[in-house]
Amino acid sequence: MNQTQKKQLAAKSALPYIPSGSTLGIGTGSTVNEFIDLLPSITNQIESIVSSSNASTKRLEKLGFEVSSLNSVGDVDLYVDGADEATKHLHLVKGGGGALTREKIVAGAAKQFICIIDDSKQVGVLGAFPLPVEVIPMARSFVARTLVKMGGQPVWRENFVTDNGNHILDVHNLEILNPIEMETQINQIAGIVTVGIFAHRAADILIVSSDKGVTVTTTNDMSKP
Ligand code: A5P
Repeated sequence: MNQTQKKQLAAKSALPYIPSGSTLGIGTGSTVNEFIDLLPSITNQIESIVSSSNASTKRLEKLGFEVSSLNSVGDVDLYVDGADEATKHLHLVKGGGGALTREKIVAGAAKQFICIIDDSKQVGVLGAFPLPVEVIPMARSFVARTLVKMGGQPVWRENFVTDNGNHILDVHNLEILNPIEMETQINQIAGIVTVGIFAHRAADILIVSSDKGVTVTTTNDMSKP
């Protein structure tokens, strides 16, 4: 199976989790694009859709879906998104596509968060993928210096502006041994909009596709001995 086929398999495996009449939150990225492309087959199950990026909104609208604002729908029943890295504890690194802020907002508003990845994204410890951090433009250098003091090597994602008009720092060489603690710590830096660690609001269900098929991990599995 090539990587596209694996992404398609992960995307397809999320479909049975969509409750009928649901308000659906849609993430961003190439794996989620495969999921978006499957939605026309289950239109009757969807009450409304909220998107996490202009790119996903555009793709949804092209398929004929109307995209609602989060403010107009209240709670989201289910949020489906990919990730750049995921652990067995369902902690994630996200933001490779730069949409981390709206992704974190929609994930936060969702009753359930399903993360769909192929097995190349599965890691023991987060941090090999450079950690995206969205910053207010005037704070970029200050935030970068602070991240250096924390042991990281931030690199400005030049010529990239987020949907919110902000900049991204990709932080290399961080070994994120305690994702909850590091998410809290980085959130304290003035000028930070969003850090790409999703640990406080981790996924509830992780679907991983590989040559062998899919494995599904849920938060309930984590409480098992
Ligand atoms: C977008 O900002 C990211 O958080 C994506 O969820 C992540 O980069 C995964 O994208 P792919 O599915 O394209 O790997």
